[in-house]
Amino acid sequence: MEILTFVGIILLFYIIYYYYCYFTRPSPLPGPFPFPFIGTIFQIGLNPRKWAENNLSDSIDIWELYVGPFRIIVPCNAKYLDKIYLSRDVSSSSKESKFFKRGIAAYDEIGLLNAIAFNNNFHKWKRSRQFVTKVLMSKKYHIGFINRSQKIFKEFEEQWDKNDVTILDFSKWVSRYKTKVTFDTVIGQPLYNLSSLDSLSKAASEYIAMFIFSVFVPKIISNIFMFFGFNAMKKDSVFLNGTIRSIIQKRRDEIRNGSTTNFNLLDLLLITNLSNDSEEYIEDEQSLNDEEIEGNLVEITAASIEMTKNALSFLVYNVAKNPLILEKLRAEILKVFGSDTNLMITYEALENCRYLDALVKELLRHSNPGPYNLRVLDSYECVGNYHFSPGTWFWLDHHRIMNDSNHWKEPIKFNPDRFLSEENGGTGEFNKICKNGYVPFGGGLRMCPGRNIVSIDLKLLAVLFFRKYNIELINNESIKFVYRATNHVHDFIIKISQKQNTIT
Ligand code: HEM
Repeated sequence: MEILTFVGIILLFYIIYYYYCYFTRPSPLPGPFPFPFIGTIFQIGLNPRKWAENNLSDSIDIWELYVGPFRIIVPCNAKYLDKIYLSRDVSSSSKESKFFKRGIAAYDEIGLLNAIAFNNNFHKWKRSRQFVTKVLMSKKYHIGFINRSQKIFKEFEEQWDKNDVTILDFSKWVSRYKTKVTFDTVIGQPLYNLSSLDSLSKAASEYIAMFIFSVFVPKIISNIFMFFGFNAMKKDSVFLNGTIRSIIQKRRDEIRNGSTTNFNLLDLLLITNLSNDSEEYIEDEQSLNDEEIEGNLVEITAASIEMTKNALSFLVYNVAKNPLILEKLRAEILKVFGSDTNLMITYEALENCRYLDALVKELLRHSNPGPYNLRVLDSYECVGNYHFSPGTWFWLDHHRIMNDSNHWKEPIKFNPDRFLSEENGGTGEFNKICKNGYVPFGGGLRMCPGRNIVSIDLKLLAVLFFRKYNIELINNESIKFVYRATNHVHDFIIKISQKQNTIT
């Protein structure tokens, strides 16, 4: 009885303290009323935008929610990003910005402190980021990626070429294609077995979904879920870790014993900074160790599969749905690549495709598969006219920012012309967009290091697909997707047939 009274008193004090903090918070904002321990999880669920659409007026461009005791601010207007996406030079040793942090405790348990995306330690983050960026942003890597991806696409398309018409779930097809390309270009492992492709793609998907779970589910609830669904997610991501670790050790030994290095991120990371006379040398840094490489490869593999496959589904959907856009795209393909639908596509030729570039930019504005970003404030700061204290989380609503009708004309319309200047047949709209009005890859110091490879990937598949095949959408008035840290596309059924010889 005495213990119960004691626990009751502690709880009461906690609740009083919780609401004291809540009612005295700086700059209160609109949002659901929170409860101790659980915050606003029952009102918000795992997708804040849904709640905002049903409960907030369009004029509200910044609001708040709670995860247990953590306050999360949701800015939905470009003007709030100026301070958050403040640029700093990665190579400088100056202290990071006040919004540098993104880390979430749950990720520490599966060994992500050495990687990039969820690393809160500036020096460890900087080290990994420099090595990975050096490879991912290099022209050498881009050319290798284009060549390998085309080879794999050819293997995959053989099946379609045997039939006049193929009906398939594109979301499944693209999961397998992207998993194969990713394992080949990131880890250097050929995968042939369909069930391995499916299970690795699922592991990548669960790994990314875990992010949203870690952000929005209060600890008290996630501990209960650990016994059920969340545990399965964790198992999947650990499975990806285990797979990669043994491959790294094997490749390091092989390279030590004189094996030539191949084109893939793993080999390129293994050799970076082995000697200081290479052109890729990073000053004052030792090469990455196995543990660091492992953390980075897991993260890059998961992002490459899950983010890009969904982007590719949205791309095919938006082009197939807009005959005028398809016509302009095919006209450019004919001009740049000629009428041979099997011609190898080069890096330089892709660079020359202005309309394709605008198409991909519009895709990442209109149907970005990763519509939000998370940053954590680590000291007192003022954003807009509001004051925030250290430890406040910021859930940046990129989707609303890039679809804001105050900045974009008819934002719901899929229109690549906005990214073309008037002299190139477009509307020139993008050139007049306000600062931070277009942020598909975030901004500042932690901007996505995969952005160039994503753009190449999307452009390449658009050419490979639409120069050779007619795509018809089946039962697709709208594309089906569910938010699981990415907009995860499912049941996207299309009909594929070979185009006749000439490109119209
Ligand atoms: C359509 C595809 C993708 C989109 C829309 C996307 C978007 C983003 C965004 C918004 C961020 C947060 C940036 C910030 O905090 O300012 C990010 C970070 C990151 N992305 Fe991507 N990404 C995509 C694909 C990829 C790919 C393919 C890779 C790997 C090759 C990748 C690797 C990363 C990494 C490592 C980070 C963490 C960067 C850091 O914290 O320093 N992403 N991405």
